[in-house]
Amino acid sequence: MSVSAKIKEYSHIFNETLPTYFPLPDGNERRVVEAMRYSVTNGGKRLRPFLVTETGKLFGLSFEQTINTAVALECLHTYSLIHDDLPAMDNDDLRRGKPTCHKAFDEATAILAGDGLLTYAFEILAQEKTHPDSKIRNELISSLAKGAGAFNGMVAGQMLDLFSEQKNNGLNPEKLIKHIEEMKTGRLISFACKAGAILGQADSEQLEALHNYSRGIGIAFQITDDILDVVGDPKLMGKTLHKDKEQGKITFVNLYGLEKARSIASDLIVSAQTELNIFGKKADTLKDLAQFIFDRNN
Ligand code: IPE
Ligand code: IPE
Ligand code: MG
Ligand code: MG
Ligand code: MG
Repeated sequence: MSVSAKIKEYSHIFNETLPTYFPLPDGNERRVVEAMRYSVTNGGKRLRPFLVTETGKLFGLSFEQTINTAVALECLHTYSLIHDDLPAMDNDDLRRGKPTCHKAFDEATAILAGDGLLTYAFEILAQEKTHPDSKIRNELISSLAKGAGAFNGMVAGQMLDLFSEQKNNGLNPEKLIKHIEEMKTGRLISFACKAGAILGQADSEQLEALHNYSRGIGIAFQITDDILDVVGDPKLMGKTLHKDKEQGKITFVNLYGLEKARSIASDLIVSAQTELNIFGKKADTLKDLAQFIFDRNN
């Protein structure tokens, strides 16, 4: 089975499970849960959850043993998209082929839906269903908080991304770019692999290999997103394209052009795949996933 077929199959089961995490309350606060549910059940490639489960498989874990962590990460990722789309940030109207959360609801509700998903991610991780050992749950909570946060995490990357829109900021763009891409996108992708490794109680050599792999695919993932912003098909992408240049974003494409950006991403993919050799055939799907990240059209 091809990796894209595997992702499709995974997404199907994942999407069926997801609504069970979002019971709708009866009171007027129902609106915020509806907004959370709207955004999180609204399509998406589910690459991060897939990565959690596939990494867990390296250590013999089942879908059931990884699902809570996978859902928590997808909640956190979806919050980052809702806030990324807000008028004060990238100001986007379309996400995953549908109106963005603040367009479908309103801005205040979208802010709260993001807050709700962010908080819920940690509530889910703290549940006993995530892992019977509270030390492991604590490690997951701490790793996700670091990956998502303002100290070297996704929030820091988003701040730099906004900051780089301003001209004359005095920073060297070439130095900044890898840093931004790694933080705003790479950190959550790294968490996906680390989570599988934490749940599977990986040894230090395995942890390091997965860390190196995830760093490579994380940056390559964002470079591909930047390439697709220029050459992607809007129907497949489900979001408004050609925005990075217009908003003066600093990206590999804006800096180096399409060809060089492609070759940087492709080199990252090849070395990421090599990192997984210590796992043998068991890591074939993760290796194929690295290639898929580069070849994807949405
Ligand atoms: C979009 O992530 C935001 C970036 C980090 C580039 P995805 O491309 O994984 O978005 P979905 O989850 O499939 O919608
Ligand atoms: C988004 O990067 C990264 C996060 C949401 C953390 P982009 O702003 O490039 O993502 P898209 O293109 O809107 O999906
Ligand atoms: Mg952005
Ligand atoms: Mg954006
Ligand atoms: Mg983008």
